[in-house]
Amino acid sequence: MQDTTSSPLAPDYGETPGVQYLAPIREVDPDIYEAILAETRRQQTGIELIPSENYVSRAVLSAIGTVFTNKYSEGYAGKRYYGGNENVDIIETLAIERAKQLFGAEHANVQPYSGSPANMAVYYGLLEPGDTVMGLALPDGGHLTHGWKVNFSAHFFNSVQYPVNPETGLLDYDVVWELAREHKPKLIWAGATAYPRVLEFDKFAQIAEDVGAYFAADIAHISGLVATGLHPDPVPYADAVTMTTHKMLRGPRGAMILTKEEHARAIDRAVFPGLQGGPHDHVTAAIAVCLKEASKEEYVEYCNQIVRNAKALAEALIERGFELVSGGTDNHLMLVDLTNKGVPGKVAQKALDRAGITLNANMVPGDKRSAFDPSGIRLGTPAVTTRGFKEDEMRKIAGWLADVIENIEDKATIERVRHEVEEVCEQFPLWY
Ligand SMILES: Cc1ncc(COP(=O)(O)O)c(C=O)c1O
Repeated sequence: MQDTTSSPLAPDYGETPGVQYLAPIREVDPDIYEAILAETRRQQTGIELIPSENYVSRAVLSAIGTVFTNKYSEGYAGKRYYGGNENVDIIETLAIERAKQLFGAEHANVQPYSGSPANMAVYYGLLEPGDTVMGLALPDGGHLTHGWKVNFSAHFFNSVQYPVNPETGLLDYDVVWELAREHKPKLIWAGATAYPRVLEFDKFAQIAEDVGAYFAADIAHISGLVATGLHPDPVPYADAVTMTTHKMLRGPRGAMILTKEEHARAIDRAVFPGLQGGPHDHVTAAIAVCLKEASKEEYVEYCNQIVRNAKALAEALIERGFELVSGGTDNHLMLVDLTNKGVPGKVAQKALDRAGITLNANMVPGDKRSAFDPSGIRLGTPAVTTRGFKEDEMRKIAGWLADVIENIEDKATIERVRHEVEEVCEQFPLWY
């Protein structure tokens, strides 16, 4: 997918084809234009290790900026509340059919505005307020919407959170099972925002069946690995499978819900009219485009390279004396506990920002520090893999991470790394 024929680092971004669509913004709103240029430059010249981020193709980016943004289309294809929806029906039906095909699902809803609203629709479609739900605790890698205390999901539902084992960093399915038997949830979530190992969806399904709960899988992070067979597939087992479209799927900011036919009506009604009004049709068009891209052989190779890169990065970090939660990774991300380096996660994040490497501070299982000032960092390979980085670049990145973190006060090291990062980024230009 990478097109390296244009968009080298250029002093005048107005001359690169990818940003010519910005000319009207420059005329109307120079402040926003400048911010877009600065962000383009930031993305061009820095290394992106936040595992939930990626770079969309020109086709996806173009699809977002189309006249579909002008349209209202409450309802579903063939059953809209307003006129003039014949073209919206075409794109939404294509997006749905492509989603079903890619994931082997019986039913797909592509209208949720983002991942959190998609998860909200699962609650609204399948449960009653006050029902008990279970999900992975946020400090152990779960998502806010899986029942964490500051989220609607714990406010409107009785939330029970399961942990990972603080020693191994791994899920203990016996513990999940015990908690499920004790609390009898109506819904069990499997899915994570910071879990570097395989999720055994068949075991979750077995536990849910045993206690009479619905089983929902949130594959926002690992959607591409599931689609390409590199991670176990929850679709055969789960009542609902949710995912964002803007992470590994390399689509626009949005989400999808896959369900079995028996839940199709409940989920569709939960999305509209339950939670949302008009769908974002320009986003739907871009989702359809990203799903087409994800059905190609190149995408399978891309996902394989994500995993190879993550393993290479993990190994190189371990060689430099870093401690990885669970000892490594099976997927696209890893969690590094910086306690042995004596550097808090936030301090590392800020220093690396200055060195042109973006990642996020993250809690690690059993963290003694707070969520605002955690012990670890989280890194992932989807974005750098899109850029064309391979194992050699992963080893370079591990070296830079080590150099900065081990010399956290040293401005010269940060400057040197920043320079080397820019040089490598210049060799792998983005296409914007
Ligand atoms: C597992 C998981 N589910 C849901 C979401 C929520 O997505 P959004 O930020 O689009 O609401 C995220 C976001 O990072 C996530 O990691």
